[in-house]
Amino acid sequence: MKAIRFWAVLGVAGAAVLTYLFATAPAPLTSEASAKPVLSTADALTLLAHENDVTRTLFTKAIVGAGKPQGLKFSEHWADPDVVAGPLPALFLRGVASHLASSEVPLGLFLGSDHPIESSNRFQGRQAEEFQAMRAEPAPRIFTDAASGDVIGMFPDFASAPACVSCHNEHERSAKTDWALNDLMGATTWSYPKDSVTTDEFLAMLKAYRAGVAAVWTAYLAEVDQIPADSRPTVGPRWPSHGFALPDLATLQDSIDELASPRVLDRLVAAAR
Ligand code: HEC
Repeated sequence: MKAIRFWAVLGVAGAAVLTYLFATAPAPLTSEASAKPVLSTADALTLLAHENDVTRTLFTKAIVGAGKPQGLKFSEHWADPDVVAGPLPALFLRGVASHLASSEVPLGLFLGSDHPIESSNRFQGRQAEEFQAMRAEPAPRIFTDAASGDVIGMFPDFASAPACVSCHNEHERSAKTDWALNDLMGATTWSYPKDSVTTDEFLAMLKAYRAGVAAVWTAYLAEVDQIPADSRPTVGPRWPSHGFALPDLATLQDSIDELASPRVLDRLVAAAR
């Protein structure tokens, strides 16, 4: 008896689902339109590089630059359990890169140089050659890696703030000690295993990058939480330029959105034309 009722219920439910699917469901969006590549990987990486530039500059100037005079600490050992400090700009980027590496999106990110502080950041092989070409003419280099078949995009990383120069020149392991403001210091290097992407694939790349930024920021705020209450910056809507304060994740993300999203949107709208 119970079995019959079960099948009857299943039959009615099944019919309802079929009616919905065939009679009333909107046309699926996953047909050709969203399966069609709309951006070359070169364009997609250029947009990600812009998002990364905005994030990196905001972090370097508005957090590290404005935060130090307020008493905020930043260290290359920020991830050690006994060091309570924020990440250096390069380590912020490294944190995002390692988050990307563990995500499902096959997007690689690396910050390298020909005169690195950290020797494992020295460009090798084809990337070293392309970086020399970038030294002669500081424009992005996009090419396909012969060995892996990946599309590689290298984007110039300039000494955009006095802190870049002083810290690198004074660092005990630096391979070069006469950097000057606006010098080409290195390149952010992205890789992706296909030469074009759909809108969905592009949004997945952007989402993975932003999730990495959120993860690093959350880890930093967790460190800040360990500072005794009487010497801890407030975390909320205010920035270090306003006082002894740090933006919470939503405030940081709003600012990045405001600075980076117009270009992404423009490009996607242009691609849809
Ligand atoms: C307070 C110190 C400090 C500041 C400020 C700083 N860096 Fe670095 N940077 C480092 C250290 C330390 C590393 C090596 C980190 C690692 O990979 O372990 C590094 C790594 C890099 C690398 C990768 C190659 C290398 O040297 O290992 C580049 C490129 C770079 N920084 C550029 C910049 C730029 C551009 C700025 C400013 C926007 C900047 N840095 C600000 C300390 C600093």
